Amino acid sequence: VPANVFDTAKIASKYAADEIASLIRDKAAKGEQAVLGLATGSTPTQLYDELVRMHKEEGLSFENVVTFNLDEYYPMEPDSIHSYVHFMHEYLFDHVDIKEENIHIPDGTLDREDVYDFCQKYEEKIDALGGLDIQILGIGRTGHVGFNEPGSSINSKTRLIALDSLTILDAASGFFGVENVPRRAITMGVGTIMKADRIFLMAWGEGKAKIVQKAIEGDITSQIPATFLQKHENVEFLLDDASSAELT
Ligand code: F6R
Repeated sequence: VPANVFDTAKIASKYAADEIASLIRDKAAKGEQAVLGLATGSTPTQLYDELVRMHKEEGLSFENVVTFNLDEYYPMEPDSIHSYVHFMHEYLFDHVDIKEENIHIPDGTLDREDVYDFCQKYEEKIDALGGLDIQILGIGRTGHVGFNEPGSSINSKTRLIALDSLTILDAASGFFGVENVPRRAITMGVGTIMKADRIFLMAWGEGKAKIVQKAIEGDITSQIPATFLQKHENVEFLLDDASSAELT
């Protein structure tokens, strides 16, 4: 499985942004839509900065872009500062010309009994558009991709999950205390992610070095869902020096 090690996260993010921009422009030239799977968190912020810069300075248009976010906390109000809806608007959507109706993010406000239907429809919408062209991923210290925590199967689909205690701990500072972190989330499944044509998993910093090594070089196991990516034909692990330090 190819690991692509860059000097800095910024240079790696520039690489991912260039690939996404080429996809968007190629699709636009054919009169088609580009379908992107997007992540939140600290990892993709420089990627979004670069896409915004390309929009402002190079005329990169998002008119033909459709997005599906990986996940959202549950329960979560969209106008909360903690929501992934808020995050995506702050870092990307408010600064480009994407159409509001082309943005999809799991709905953290649903009643429990409506979640299953919502998740089915999320899958159907992705499929109806011909699937995700590029999926962006970060990786959690549990080895999660999206919020597919240890125990998630390779065929899992969009669903409500319970967050791992380590994931809750890692989110605590952003929520001003562990007790404020939602215990659940709606996430695309591993199977949803695996259907993407192309996957970029990005990871920066020494804190990710151990899990990155396991994800890329370890045995494939549902205990580390990121290891399932080894089975994907078109996955690239975009790393910086620090996150690649444990690779053999
Ligand atoms: C976010 C997501 C998560 C994060 C992962 C890493 O939408 O699906 O899998 O990518 O938890 O988070 P950061 O980037 O904050 O280290």
